[in-house]
Amino acid sequence: MILIKLGGSIITNKEKPLSARKKTIDDITKSLRKIKEPVIIVHGGGSYGHYWSVKYDMHTKERKYDIRGVSIIKNSMIELNKIILDSLLKNKLNPYALPPTDFMSGNKPILNKIKEIEKIAKSGLIPVTYGDALWFGKNKTYILSGDKIMTHFAKILKPRLCIFALNEDGLYSDLKSKKLISELKGNIPLMSENKMDVTGGMTRKVEEAVKISKMGTNVFFVNGKKPERIVAVVKNREFKGTMFRGKRNG
Ligand code: IPE
Repeated sequence: MILIKLGGSIITNKEKPLSARKKTIDDITKSLRKIKEPVIIVHGGGSYGHYWSVKYDMHTKERKYDIRGVSIIKNSMIELNKIILDSLLKNKLNPYALPPTDFMSGNKPILNKIKEIEKIAKSGLIPVTYGDALWFGKNKTYILSGDKIMTHFAKILKPRLCIFALNEDGLYSDLKSKKLISELKGNIPLMSENKMDVTGGMTRKVEEAVKISKMGTNVFFVNGKKPERIVAVVKNREFKGTMFRGKRNG
């Protein structure tokens, strides 16, 4: 079982509201055909979900947000999700759309639902879910990031590996020279932040990747614009990107 997160910055143009990178999405889905193992896909919000979350000032903290914003964010995520699903179908893969309401209750993952997702993936269908605006309870709502979903799934399903497809080659030790860190050991480098992003951008991804690697799963950051790198990681070939080696504490 392999978990793949398609970051919002790769599937959309974050500089331009509501713009999906259809060609990039198609290139990615095409190369996913080369993977012969069960796969689960999670995607981000990019210039869909994040755009509206910023507009309606909605964040990851559970609060009473504007219900209009909740509706509009959800709607935009369905629109982006549909683009991904259509691309998978077009490339002869069989996506199984799963909004996070299917496996989340409040901010808690539903164990037996997530175990069911594994069975769905093993049947040959590709479960596809995404970061979304979610009901928390007591009239509160929140934004669940796709990166958090990766951690929930990794914890329960113990995948063989997790891949985050980004708009960069991986993590850089130095933002100016773009010197790539091939394996992250020790301290997390400083990262610049993006105001378009309500879920914490790269910092959140690194945090989740570190959490997942501590569960014993290898995590990889690769450039989604070079989808052959996703395939290389899966096939244990040499790849360009950043690895967080899975190790358990103690
Ligand atoms: C965000 O999901 C979803 C919404 C804002 C509704 P992510 O946090 O996973 O999105 P990206 O990958 O950073 O764009």
